[in-house]
Amino acid sequence: MAASAVYDDDMAGSELVTSSLPLETRFPPFQLRQLGGFWFPEAILPGVAAAHARFEPRPSDVFLASFPKSGTTWLKALAFAVIYRADHPPRSPGHPLRHRNPHDCVKFLEEPFAVDGGVLAALPSPRVIATHLPYSLLPGRVAAEGGSGVRRIVYICRDPKDALVSTWLFAKKVVAAAAARDGDEDGKPPPAPTTFEEAFELFCDGRCMAGPQWRHVAGYWEASRRLPDKVLFLRYEEMLQDPVGNVRKLAEFMGCAFSGEEEAAGVVEDIVELCSIDALKNMDVNKNGAQEYVKNESFFRKGVAGDWSNHMTPAMAERLDKIVDDALQGTGFTFAPAQSA
Ligand code: A3P
Repeated sequence: MAASAVYDDDMAGSELVTSSLPLETRFPPFQLRQLGGFWFPEAILPGVAAAHARFEPRPSDVFLASFPKSGTTWLKALAFAVIYRADHPPRSPGHPLRHRNPHDCVKFLEEPFAVDGGVLAALPSPRVIATHLPYSLLPGRVAAEGGSGVRRIVYICRDPKDALVSTWLFAKKVVAAAAARDGDEDGKPPPAPTTFEEAFELFCDGRCMAGPQWRHVAGYWEASRRLPDKVLFLRYEEMLQDPVGNVRKLAEFMGCAFSGEEEAAGVVEDIVELCSIDALKNMDVNKNGAQEYVKNESFFRKGVAGDWSNHMTPAMAERLDKIVDDALQGTGFTFAPAQSA
């Protein structure tokens, strides 16, 4: 399906008619709306519409795409550290990642103010921009086959069972943060977090942020097969196993491969170390800082493959695996078996 075609079906003129889209309220704190076959927090839809209507891509842009809770924060840190290493050597004490959360270093295309607030337009080239939008909902000018110029997209995928567990635990933290921030100021009690069983059912039904997860993954997988020079497909589990090899691959793809001198000086290993979960977790900004809706520490939990087995029964795992396998029939894609935690 051509990027944007579905989106246009849900538009009236240039504005998105949010209230006409199917609604899902069972995943607090997010009120989800279905757009082009995927579910999104209602609050980001104006940002999606702005990205479609007014975002001006540049040929040197690099987009980092992911389903939520699949390694976005890690990929943001790595891509930022790789692409800006000449200005910010990874060992430098003043490196931005030592003082700012990766989400403050790399913004989302669809977040409020990114396009209409001029946040992205103000960035110097080359820009690194993230998105949770599925491939089919990227603005036509960003999608690899649309428009002219280079524009690269890096996708990170993760085992759906781990993405589900991570999503559920993260959503609980966002609910708690909202309750602590808002109290019952509007006279209503704060929403209760979803139980794991409820979250599981919703996930299996594709009703979660940017879900169905497997369709999100399949869209980028197919694009990466069609356009390997423009779409790089990475797997979270493989990055855990071989971070150095994957960072080299990332740098080559972004057009800034490491030189022999940099290799000899250990720059690749330095970047891997700077962006490791333990290093990031222990930075003051990530221990004590916050985004508008959640503490920075919430982005760093275990960072392993296979933690799903601590939350899901084997029968649940089998059921989800079957749903995913059936849905992926014919795409040529399968999720590699995750390792034990
Ligand atoms: P877990 O909750 O399974 O630990 P996202 O960044 O897309 O929100 O994904 C969050 C997941 O990535 C969390 O997984 C988090 O712990 C993990 N993560 C965050 N930073 C990481 C890093 N530097 N290396 C590996 N995993 C990381």
